[in-house]
Amino acid sequence: MLTRRWRGPHRNVARMSRLDFFIHRLTAQRACLNRAAELIRGLDGFVLELGLGNGRSYDHLRELFPTRDIYVCERQVGAHPACIPPAERLLLGDLREMLPQARSWLTGKVALAHVDIGSGDPAVDKARAAETWPLVAPLLRPDGVVASDLTMDCPELRALPLPDGAAAGRYHLYQLSPSDCEPVKAGNVSAGDLETVVGARILEVALDNLLRVRP
Ligand SMILES: C[S@@+](CC[C@H](N)C(=O)[O-])C[C@H]1O[C@@H](n2cnc3c(N)ncnc32)[C@H](O)[C@@H]1O
Repeated sequence: MLTRRWRGPHRNVARMSRLDFFIHRLTAQRACLNRAAELIRGLDGFVLELGLGNGRSYDHLRELFPTRDIYVCERQVGAHPACIPPAERLLLGDLREMLPQARSWLTGKVALAHVDIGSGDPAVDKARAAETWPLVAPLLRPDGVVASDLTMDCPELRALPLPDGAAAGRYHLYQLSPSDCEPVKAGNVSAGDLETVVGARILEVALDNLLRVRP
């Protein structure tokens, strides 16, 4: 890997070539997806790919999960012809519209969500992560895993250690752990809470509690 001192205004900042950066990103992505496959080995559930792009990671997911259904959300398909998902597993459109529509049949059923929709602009990606996570969270099953190019800053997700070969900051691994959520009584749930992902998780726990006390 070639790094050199940046000759611009920030002279002390180590610069990495765009090629090295790209290689780091893809190396970390593959390492995280491979690790995610180990993590969900004992979990039932679908795989959800957000951002088909060229179809590279989708193809890798197909190799990792030959027996699982892999759903893909992409606003505009431009993948390699060999890497286009079957129509019945393609959520074609903007994920901000498609994921809410998929809730009726996908809620709690995703074992691995792979989020690969970053723009490379930190400010844009921060906003993108903030709007994406609330749409992905309800779809995850307990202990579901998220591999992401975006940093997900949310209390329901535990950041997992990166696997060997994944440089810090290039890719991220998270796990949803209901056991980490605060226990909440059903009576404490307000209508406003239901509009948020945290609220959705609270409602899930509350309903679960209600069902358990019924004869
Ligand atoms: C970096 S590329 C994905 C690369 C792909 N995973 C691969 O390995 O080839 C990002 C993709 O996310 C898609 N994307 C970004 N924002 C989206 C959104 N809000 N809804 C649907 N797709 C989106 C873009 O159209 C683009 O194809």
